[in-house]
Amino acid sequence: MLFCTSSKNFISSFPNCKKLNIIDVGCGNGEPVAPILDVLVKQDIQLRYVPIDISQDMLDIAEEFVKKNYEKLQTKSVELDFEMGNFSDLMFELKKDGYSNLLLFLGSTLGNHSDRQRVLTNFRDSMSSDDFLILGVELTNFSKINKIIPHYKGKLAEDFLYLIPENIGIKRNNTECNVSWNDRLNQVEVKIVLKKNINAEIDSEKFTLEKDEQILLSRSAKFTEWTITKLLSDVGFRTELLTTTEDRGYLLSMVQPTRYGV
Ligand SMILES: C[S@@+](CC[C@H](N)C(=O)[O-])C[C@H]1O[C@@H](n2cnc3c(N)ncnc32)[C@H](O)[C@@H]1O
Repeated sequence: MLFCTSSKNFISSFPNCKKLNIIDVGCGNGEPVAPILDVLVKQDIQLRYVPIDISQDMLDIAEEFVKKNYEKLQTKSVELDFEMGNFSDLMFELKKDGYSNLLLFLGSTLGNHSDRQRVLTNFRDSMSSDDFLILGVELTNFSKINKIIPHYKGKLAEDFLYLIPENIGIKRNNTECNVSWNDRLNQVEVKIVLKKNINAEIDSEKFTLEKDEQILLSRSAKFTEWTITKLLSDVGFRTELLTTTEDRGYLLSMVQPTRYGV
């Protein structure tokens, strides 16, 4: 519903847009893009779905999902690490033949990165002043922290998070997994605590981890409306549209690179 409103507003701000690239950055399985595609496929616009991800497996899943559900949509998947720097060449290339660019960065992916400013700067440096970015982030709601924490628990999350520890010799049953809220850094943290000394190995380098040592497996920073708007503005984005879910748990912000007058 949130997406429907936003995409309609987006379209109204692009009255002459006849061709549009939906560039799904950090696409995952591609499913979160469905509500926006549902709206856009009904418009008189030629659409191209461009999933970008560091994982070829995710790109294949996203492309398959979109091809299955939107048969007429063109797709062009791109394997790329958006932390490595800007990708302006790709964005420029995609605009050939009169296409406009709409980037989507959804699923609170921004909160998983330690240097969020750098990630957003890479995006800004990849965009021209008429490109749009829609960013989705989970908001902090102090009264609801207990509702956020369970998103990071459960077998699926653990299976994924233990992939690397198990790979270097840390057995799951020799650890305790804790999910907690870090008040100072405004982030959810998933840590394992070692129940005994453990011999581990990385790249034939052997070392011992001691009982009671803690290892940070994952972090997910949360925002308030104010902190995300400030971050976007500090990086050089102008907010065109900002909307939240009714419970204020999730925010979508549509932004453009700031134009500087000379
Ligand atoms: C939290 S998931 C979000 C997936 C999806 N957008 C959603 O809304 O559910 C993050 C995705 O970003 C990808 N990703 C993480 N870091 C990346 C990077 N540096 N460059 C490209 N993709 C990255 C991951 O492979 C994963 O598919």
